Amino acid sequence: MRQAAPVIDEILPAAVSGGESFGDAADGWLFPEENAALGQVGEARRREYTTVRHCARRALGGLGIAPAPLAPGAGGAPRWPEGVVGSMTHCAGYRAAVAARRSDVRTLGIDAEPHAPLPEGVLGFIALPEELSQVAHFTRRCPEVHWDRLLFCAKEAVYKAWFPVTHTWLGFDGAVISPAPEGTFHARVLAQEAQQGRVPSEFAGRWMVRNGLVLASALLPGEV
Ligand SMILES: CC(C)(COP(=O)(O)OP(=O)(O)OC[C@H]1O[C@@H](n2cnc3c(N)ncnc32)[C@H](O)[C@@H]1OP(=O)(O)O)[C@@H](O)C(=O)NCCC(=O)NCCS
Repeated sequence: MRQAAPVIDEILPAAVSGGESFGDAADGWLFPEENAALGQVGEARRREYTTVRHCARRALGGLGIAPAPLAPGAGGAPRWPEGVVGSMTHCAGYRAAVAARRSDVRTLGIDAEPHAPLPEGVLGFIALPEELSQVAHFTRRCPEVHWDRLLFCAKEAVYKAWFPVTHTWLGFDGAVISPAPEGTFHARVLAQEAQQGRVPSEFAGRWMVRNGLVLASALLPGEV
């Protein structure tokens, strides 16, 4: 039987290959270097780390690339095979990984969150004043979406796309996210290097709500 296309593919261009799982496989395995990088952790962390790498190997397979070790590198970002960019996410009941050839996509990030309001106090911590206004505006206009959680999810996706090309930290006040109800968002990075054109300043994003989850992707197209 043909496997259904991953849900995460719906918010990514065709050049990106995805793999996802709504649970942890009992037969998950790791390359020795992935296992060494993980170290001593609890069972739940071992399972999500293993399953998301299983998803990543499926994503690589979609690009015609053989399974490869995907150990965390600097800042926790996974190291992908030469010429490949990708991103991973896990939250309760969901794991996903995506990969693309660097010629098609310069960098990308994905994030998944439970589609529920953020815990008390978190929105004020992560949102810039203009983002607070937008969350209030869209909550009035389209109350079935948890715009606070979507904002958080989009910011994490942007960070995961930002870090591999800059190797620098970007705080929650480091980019302004402008979401649109049609399932897109735009991210403008405020960091000085971005303003001076030394690193990317604009990311294109997409989002959707499905199966009790909010999913977001952020990317920069490849350099031709
Ligand atoms: C790193 C971070 C984004 C991870 O997000 P999260 O929701 O906690 O966790 P997720 O399950 O979605 O993602 C975890 C995966 O992200 C990836 N990741 C971790 N650090 C990363 C980095 N610096 N760059 C890219 N990807 C990274 C890893 O693959 C990790 O999974 P693994 O450890 O099993 O390999 C988050 O913990 C964080 O530090 N956020 C603060 C920075 C930020 O979001 N700034 C907003 C800018 S507007």
